[in-house]
Amino acid sequence: MRTLHTVIVTLTCQLALCSQIFPRVENSWSDASIKASEFVANLTLTEKIGIVSGGYLSPAPACVGSIGPISRLNFSGLCFSDGPSGYARSDGVSVFPSGITIAATWDRDLAYQRGVALGEEFRAKGSHVYLGPSTGAMGRHARGGRNWEGFGPDPYLAGVITNTSVLGVQSTGVQACTKHLAGNEQETQRTSTTDSNGTVTEAISSNIDDRTLHELYLWPFANAVKAGTSSIMCSYNRLNGNYTCANSDLLTTFLKDELAFPGYVTSDWYATHGTEDFANAGLDMEQPGNVSSLAGPSYFGGLLLDAINNGSVSEDRLNDMAERVMTPYFLLGQDQDFPSVDPSAGAVFLTYQYGQNSPLAAYYPAVEARDVRGDHASLIRKIGAAGTVLLKNVNNTLPLKNVSNIGIFGNGAGYPIDGSVFLDYGDHPEGFEYGTLDIGGGSGTVRHTNLVTPLQAVQSHVASIGGRTQVILNNDVLAEGLFKTIYPVPQACLVFLKAYATEGSDRSSIDLPWNSTAAVEKTAAMCSNTIVVIHGPGVVLMPWADNENVTAILSAHYPGEEIGNSLVDVLWGAAEPSGRLPYTIPRNLSDYGPDIVESPAEDSTWQADFNEGQLIDYRHFDADNVDPHFEFGFGLSYTSFEMVDGLQVNVNENVSALADESMGTQPGGLVDLWTLVAQAAVEITNTGTITGIAVPQLYISFPQDTTPAGTPVKVLRGFTKVALDAGETTTINFELTRRDLSFWDSDTKQWVIPQGEFVFMAGFSSRDIKSTIQTAMLS
Ligand code: NOJ
Repeated sequence: MRTLHTVIVTLTCQLALCSQIFPRVENSWSDASIKASEFVANLTLTEKIGIVSGGYLSPAPACVGSIGPISRLNFSGLCFSDGPSGYARSDGVSVFPSGITIAATWDRDLAYQRGVALGEEFRAKGSHVYLGPSTGAMGRHARGGRNWEGFGPDPYLAGVITNTSVLGVQSTGVQACTKHLAGNEQETQRTSTTDSNGTVTEAISSNIDDRTLHELYLWPFANAVKAGTSSIMCSYNRLNGNYTCANSDLLTTFLKDELAFPGYVTSDWYATHGTEDFANAGLDMEQPGNVSSLAGPSYFGGLLLDAINNGSVSEDRLNDMAERVMTPYFLLGQDQDFPSVDPSAGAVFLTYQYGQNSPLAAYYPAVEARDVRGDHASLIRKIGAAGTVLLKNVNNTLPLKNVSNIGIFGNGAGYPIDGSVFLDYGDHPEGFEYGTLDIGGGSGTVRHTNLVTPLQAVQSHVASIGGRTQVILNNDVLAEGLFKTIYPVPQACLVFLKAYATEGSDRSSIDLPWNSTAAVEKTAAMCSNTIVVIHGPGVVLMPWADNENVTAILSAHYPGEEIGNSLVDVLWGAAEPSGRLPYTIPRNLSDYGPDIVESPAEDSTWQADFNEGQLIDYRHFDADNVDPHFEFGFGLSYTSFEMVDGLQVNVNENVSALADESMGTQPGGLVDLWTLVAQAAVEITNTGTITGIAVPQLYISFPQDTTPAGTPVKVLRGFTKVALDAGETTTINFELTRRDLSFWDSDTKQWVIPQGEFVFMAGFSSRDIKSTIQTAMLS
């Protein structure tokens, strides 16, 4: 058997064995914290303020946030850069697969490798802090503008990918800043706004109950802390009426007390709206602070100094803030041999802002960028295929065989004709009409140094096998059925559709834009072997999916700069499209669950009541008995798999309902929450004729009588990704921690394993359960 990751690696990132991959985090927080306190003890009051206040624009504006240097102590400052799918606003960098793509791989090892590669590029560019990973927005709303940056709406899957991403990035000595804590599920009114009369409208308040927070929205952040994330970014929105960056329940009680987070909380950019309320609630750093060229109010800096002087923030608290900021710096050895910031960064950033006539060109002359891409293109290409989900494949259309006349259709195939940088935050909410789409927009976009389009890659592959292509890139021509230029009808017609999503606005719809439906239908009317390829941010509708001439559907997410090559690998079978959906595709938007709040309440405040609790995505489809179009966890393979109905579960002896507090805490909270308490095992067989990749999944149902109302019908609690040769059988093991089998009791404020029978279900998706067994955890 060739596993894509070993079970050891699987557990490594969930359990105490993390030290095998990343020894420094588990063992040296306390050493680093001692160094940090010694460092802070040598600072003047003003220097301490400087350590926690952004606002220093040098060494280059590519640092979207900075902490200034203190040269007398050889501290060269901190550079913060976006994140999360590559080093933003730069040249000589890779555009990596987006968060939703890596989640769709369901592959811990690839997530780790992506993290390492990202970290390598940030480090080589001289950036200390990677503003990622993002695990909020999770995707409560199908239309959420930033869902693609994160790992999807299931907390277990998102938690595993968050954990491995943090481990990967930090293994290179770069700090991860896991974001956005918490409840930042929509872009509409995500932050406070001021109208032309100076009237302030506060940000939307995500109103989320304690249990839902713990079991859903905070869950992946616990995995981040467990992995040793250096930093956490609090979000723009309010949570239960209070700005997240001033929310002591969130920052102090949950993050610093319950999860024993030893690093620092930074605000999202301009998400600090006050001084003492924010500092005393647990905010450790303001960003970007008082940056003159990016006018915006600043509340730390001089105002924090005033607050210390008048006693409204204590100097102890300031020391704690500064020590928390400095601890990861020492933990990751950033005090030794950290590269300087790439001097090209300023010019590239300003070109981004002003075009070729930057008023600051004299200060930031154009110099050649440090090229930090290494051989990351091959990893990006691999992840692109591994995060592509095969949704339909009639008569084994794919991989393509014996076809030499290929149609390349659709506005998502060619090079972006407006240029390949998608910085817009919402000026173009639908994106640009012509050109491939491998990443979304906003601060999370990455400037392309290289981009291999589907048109380019397919044409060059087809030429290499002696075939020919026929091309129409205008969806309107397709939608009108104007196929006058096509002769003879291609043996396979590839239709490239795309959907854009960006920070700053939510999607107006989950329909594929640019006349896509008519484009597919008219193409399918001409071509009986129509293969639809979608590049998009996640949930999109596919009303043409049952058209009998649509023989295959690939949902390839945002795969990054090797978008064309990944696709060629999948189409001709050099790689399997081995992704599985990390979300549910509904038949209609209204089936999906709560929609974006588009207007204020009667009292003019913006409120999002998360009344559905934990029942989002597949949990909602299960609870409300809604038929999904393609369910969470679904994806076909080029082979077929069977799972024997013989799931076995072993429960450790003497499992108690509550965690043993005497085992202490470590980053991630009570040590005992991460103890293994049960194992499950099931056999799968490759019943096809070729090697293929399976993603067996484990779901559990909690005992219904002993858990509170609102408990999901089932929740994901295990998965693995495994390659099997034709005819091969293997045993899949799932390991469950105490946290996996507990619910959050909001009365007693603790994780509890309930009495009664749990149902364990193993299968190939949330709706394809092959084997079920009932067992109790507590004797
Ligand atoms: C705001 C975004 O919400 C955040 O994700 C990003 O890191 C900062 N801007 C800096 O660009």
